[in-house]
Amino acid sequence: MAEFALPANSKITKGESHAAPPGSNNVKTFQIYRWSPDDDANPRIDSFNIDLNDCGPMVLDALIKIKSEQDSSLTFRRSCREGICGSCSMNIDGTNTLACLKSIDEVKGDVKIFPLPHMPVVKDLVPDLSKAYRQLTSIEPWLKSDKPEPEGEERRQSPEEREMLDGLWECVLCFSCSTACPSYWWNSDEYLGPAVLLQAYRWVADSRDDHTNERLDALDDSFALYRCHTIMNCAKTCPKGLNPGKAIAKIKSELASR
Ligand code: SF4
Ligand code: FES
Repeated sequence: MAEFALPANSKITKGESHAAPPGSNNVKTFQIYRWSPDDDANPRIDSFNIDLNDCGPMVLDALIKIKSEQDSSLTFRRSCREGICGSCSMNIDGTNTLACLKSIDEVKGDVKIFPLPHMPVVKDLVPDLSKAYRQLTSIEPWLKSDKPEPEGEERRQSPEEREMLDGLWECVLCFSCSTACPSYWWNSDEYLGPAVLLQAYRWVADSRDDHTNERLDALDDSFALYRCHTIMNCAKTCPKGLNPGKAIAKIKSELASR
């Protein structure tokens, strides 16, 4: 069971307010969580007012604009800007999602941005995902085949076998789902969480992999797998429209039918 102990001075305070440039006539306010390990200050919420007429359409565009023009110390992860790398996941308007796929227009009122919930924070909007990546490593997310590699060609699958991977290969490992899951919040030391379990099923379902039984043996654990209570926040929040809960149900079904 995870233990929570709030550090001293952890109350969130009102932070700085940054005005939009003079002459702005389409102003939107972004309220952003700020915390730095470099001082003893409380976390705070800073307000940034920006002119949407001079900004791209996505929340990530606004964050990049704020960092470029108003506060270069604002810290967040991003890379591809098109929903592929999974690095810009954060909590926007109360939902875990990818900032580069979240349109500013979708948010009524101020845009409130926090790091992914229930994770240690490295700085500002950057969560510490070390544990989640250790859990990912534990399911050995790579092809394990006992057959020799075919010479001069790829390992073939039939269209039907390939189709089994749809809804799985698209995962960008943003961990929006795991950090929206109450079972993961309270049991993340032992429960693998929806993101890692979807990846685990991706390899169980792969016709080219010869270690299915070994993979299922490793997953057959009351905490690692069965802490999923089908709450389904994972499917509701996934910015790629995937359903980790369904993948978890398929693992349980494979185990039951052995
Ligand atoms: S299943 Fe969806 S929410 Fe979960 S890690 Fe993959 S892309 Fe992100
Ligand atoms: S920047 Fe790559 S998914 Fe958002």
